[in-house]
Amino acid sequence: MPDLIIQQAQFYEDEECRSAIRAIEDRYSYSDEIDYFSRLVNFSTAKTEPFQRWVRYREGYSTVLVNELLSRSRINPNSHFVADPMVGSGSTIISAKKKGFDAFGVDVNPYCKVIVDAKLLSPSDEDLAVIQGFLTSLPEAYTHYNGSNPPLSDYFPPSNLINLLSLRDHILSVENQNAKQILLSCWFFILEVCSNRKKDGNGLATRPAPVNDVISCFRETINEIITDYVRHPLPKQSLSHVFTGSACDFSAFSDSFSEASGKKLGAIIFSPPYANAFDYYESYKMELLFGQLYSPDDYQIHKKEQIRNYRISYGRELHCDYPLVEMLCDAINTAIPKKEAATGKRDARTRLMPNMLRGYFTDMGIVLDQLYKSLDEGGCCYIVVDQSAYVGVIVPTDVLLADIAEKKGFAVNDIIICRQAATSGQQRKAYPYLSSTLRESIVCLQKKSN
Ligand SMILES: C[S@@+](CC[C@H](N)C(=O)[O-])C[C@H]1O[C@@H](n2cnc3c(N)ncnc32)[C@H](O)[C@@H]1O
Repeated sequence: MPDLIIQQAQFYEDEECRSAIRAIEDRYSYSDEIDYFSRLVNFSTAKTEPFQRWVRYREGYSTVLVNELLSRSRINPNSHFVADPMVGSGSTIISAKKKGFDAFGVDVNPYCKVIVDAKLLSPSDEDLAVIQGFLTSLPEAYTHYNGSNPPLSDYFPPSNLINLLSLRDHILSVENQNAKQILLSCWFFILEVCSNRKKDGNGLATRPAPVNDVISCFRETINEIITDYVRHPLPKQSLSHVFTGSACDFSAFSDSFSEASGKKLGAIIFSPPYANAFDYYESYKMELLFGQLYSPDDYQIHKKEQIRNYRISYGRELHCDYPLVEMLCDAINTAIPKKEAATGKRDARTRLMPNMLRGYFTDMGIVLDQLYKSLDEGGCCYIVVDQSAYVGVIVPTDVLLADIAEKKGFAVNDIIICRQAATSGQQRKAYPYLSSTLRESIVCLQKKSN
């Protein structure tokens, strides 16, 4: 048996926890497809791929993975459509559309709609001519900007700031709607390289801006975009849409898409945020705030619609309906004082993790319930997910989500092991078994016919 399918139950200190985890581990079948999927569960293949190369969405997976799972689901584009409740950069939708499926996505982050809508546009020759005309009218550089500065303007060197803001005003004056949308999306795509911040870890790290000629960078990116539209056009006949909203309200989005397409939901392929401290709103705050997709107040309000992570304040001890999750929270709460005694330091961050896990799995339960209700009988749902660990306690996210999905009515067909997952050097040192035991998997669910 390959290493990553080793039973994780053996690594829990508490006997009750060990046997509870062993019981759910033993319920499922696992396949080792590391050779095939290890390169596909991240965004590395996107660098050279049309559409996907426009903007690096670090948390995305490959369209090749989607293509493969759609083939395995055996659904037919004449009767079924495809959905992604947490669409990110649109890998699922783009791949489904290429295969002739109608497809829709949902994401709580409005920047995802900017990204995916741009990919889904099929500009006409006239739209492209307007974009060419716009490029001809661009100066080599703008020298001043008279308007007011949006939030986070200090993330940009002064000359880049003048150029970005003037360029945006210039784009907003374009009358052709498709051309304006493509140009504005391109403006968003170059923000990070023109800034002195980069997406890193749980947020943004400071570094010198790699680009100091904003206009040339914009021209290069827009030319790449036009090349992809012209050389790799997506099929026009299929229907697609991106909703900005929460996956917790998935059924309403799915019903309205089903009505428009006249088909049923046959496959769901998605990757949720992982059960860790990553906050997408922190990571994308430059696009959200400087890009004026949100006012600072709205940013704070909508941030809380995300699947919960530790940065979303809890204020009180939560309770979770899943006894296994409560058991893991107890295991973490027991291990924390031991670690603190050993290091002599209070670990305030890890103390937030039990409530993060309660919130995370409660939210994922709501999402799975919505997905089950929306899916046609016989339809498949694939969840690409990583595991995490706190103070040595493994959070076996794949089996926990499989268990919760079963409670909502799904059958669990398989758990595909895709690659080894990473944890911090600090944790590996303190708990050496974590170096080789955490995994990234695809949980394969199906709504069986009654
Ligand atoms: C791992 S990423 C998805 C990446 C995507 N599969 C791709 O290939 O680009 C997870 C996404 O979940 C979104 N998300 C977080 N909470 C959400 C919620 N409550 N409803 C919908 N989307 C949510 C995040 O904004 C993020 O885009």
